[in-house]
Amino acid sequence: MQVNLRIRRFNPEKDSKAWWGDYTLDDVSRNDTVLDLLNRVKWEIDGTLALRRSCAHGVCGSDALRINGANALACKTLVSRLSGGSAAPTIQIEPILGLRVIKDLIVDMEPFMDHYRSVLPYFINDSPPPADGRERLQSQEDRARFDDTTKCILCACCTTSCPSFWANEKYVGPAAIVQAHRFIYDSRDEGAEDRLKVVGDTFGVWRCRTNFNCTSACPREIEVTKAIAEVKKVLATGEI
Ligand code: SF4
Ligand code: F3S
Ligand code: FES
Repeated sequence: MQVNLRIRRFNPEKDSKAWWGDYTLDDVSRNDTVLDLLNRVKWEIDGTLALRRSCAHGVCGSDALRINGANALACKTLVSRLSGGSAAPTIQIEPILGLRVIKDLIVDMEPFMDHYRSVLPYFINDSPPPADGRERLQSQEDRARFDDTTKCILCACCTTSCPSFWANEKYVGPAAIVQAHRFIYDSRDEGAEDRLKVVGDTFGVWRCRTNFNCTSACPREIEVTKAIAEVKKVLATGEI
């Protein structure tokens, strides 16, 4: 199969604005991933193409891109899903939206990571551990309450598909709320009050308009909008 790749290119050292690069690839398999195709462009056609990737197996979260208008991981997106039955499909690839483009498909992730850090995404418990030397125990039911939100790989597919984030980058965003949820709902954690201050402020969860783009975009199939609703409920009722 032949595939036409349209890739959004931008080199701040040379270009005054972004432009579309068109690349034709032959002998593409329906089972190739978008990352396979991008690697072919970089290795066989134009070595200056800049993209971020690492594991190639949906684990590291580094290759989130806007593919045919929807956020996804390049390494988890098969050509067969995008070809629509066409013998020579065109696949359009852009950097994720709402973050500054550094070069080509690479964006500045620092504002996203700042939001992540703002919710204190680590276990907080300053009480002495159990005297018998055992770990802090938790029932299976309590563990299940935050199981879904432990799966996040910080790829940013959710936050950069959210219209509220596009409108105002100060919005903490769905990924950070997912991280807050993971610890707020952990019965062993004692940092909920501080996290709720962050997600309950002007740029917190109330900026979410229940758009669901985040849930559709999440490659880990986390119920992101549901997690946000659960954090809103804690803020509204005071009950976890
Ligand atoms: Fe990525 Fe899903 Fe985590 Fe958002 S919640 S950063 S889409 S893994
Ligand atoms: Fe945005 Fe997701 Fe809410 S896309 S508006 S954070 S449901
Ligand atoms: Fe690691 Fe795609 S390269 S998630």
